[in-house]
Amino acid sequence: MAIYNLGSINADFFYHVPHLPGPGETLAATKLTRGLGGKGANMSVAAARAGAHTVHVGAVGHDGHWAADRMMEFGVDTRHISKLPDTPNGQAHIYVDAGGENSIVLFQGANHQIPAETISAALSEASTGDTLLMQNETKDQPEAAKIARELGLYVAYAAAPFEAEAVEAVLPHLDFLILNEVEAEQLEEATGKSPDVLGVTDVIITLGAKGARWLHEGQSRDFPAMPVTPVDTTGAGDTFTGYVLAARDRGLPMEQAIALAMRAGALMVTRQGTADVIPDLKEVDEARF
Ligand code: RIB
Repeated sequence: MAIYNLGSINADFFYHVPHLPGPGETLAATKLTRGLGGKGANMSVAAARAGAHTVHVGAVGHDGHWAADRMMEFGVDTRHISKLPDTPNGQAHIYVDAGGENSIVLFQGANHQIPAETISAALSEASTGDTLLMQNETKDQPEAAKIARELGLYVAYAAAPFEAEAVEAVLPHLDFLILNEVEAEQLEEATGKSPDVLGVTDVIITLGAKGARWLHEGQSRDFPAMPVTPVDTTGAGDTFTGYVLAARDRGLPMEQAIALAMRAGALMVTRQGTADVIPDLKEVDEARF
């Protein structure tokens, strides 16, 4: 089985700041680093590191070839990443404060220029039972979700960055939805339906330091978070999602997939950076909390 991930690829610029800047404030960063990121790339790297055959479907700009190369080094199948010569790469400018909290400004770049043929070529290789994963940092999500559903894929959506309209556009095609507590409330306001009656087989609501909740066939089950001191929370949610779907794709029951992903996400918040520092299965297994 395989995971096809229609997702963003960003250059992440991390600015370490004493506190997150307020309106009109000019602030000196104590450190600046650049790495591989984007919610899509992070989830692809996490899924690959968690042992799933992961095919990334996306695009890099003329200044982003290094990003596709790095994804390949992490074990991601990069054949369906288009290289766009006339478009700049996606970027994220991330402020991280002393407590590990962040603010992010995105530049979409190539992520919103992914050719429709790139998506259709990738999905034409997929087989029934494979997974299509998406987030809200690319275009053409509803079209991809519809095709994938028709092909018998398990269609998964991480509703981030959250926009209720974007979720509603893919909702009829979804088997899996992951979002946080506030977003779940916002989606309920928009749809008039609570998350357990959306018609989505598996819904995961992340609860921050309280863990995560899985809604499935009228049942609700809570999973506690590991006690950790956060250094940088950026990419932890992406790591969790990639791990859950990879473990499911490898045949683990959802309870075990979520428990494994809780450990991976917890380990990730103790690290500085995004895709470059996502732990592999051995590190997750050996971590002591
Ligand atoms: O979720 C973290 C990610 O959000 C970063 O890697 C950044 O690129 C933004 O897309």
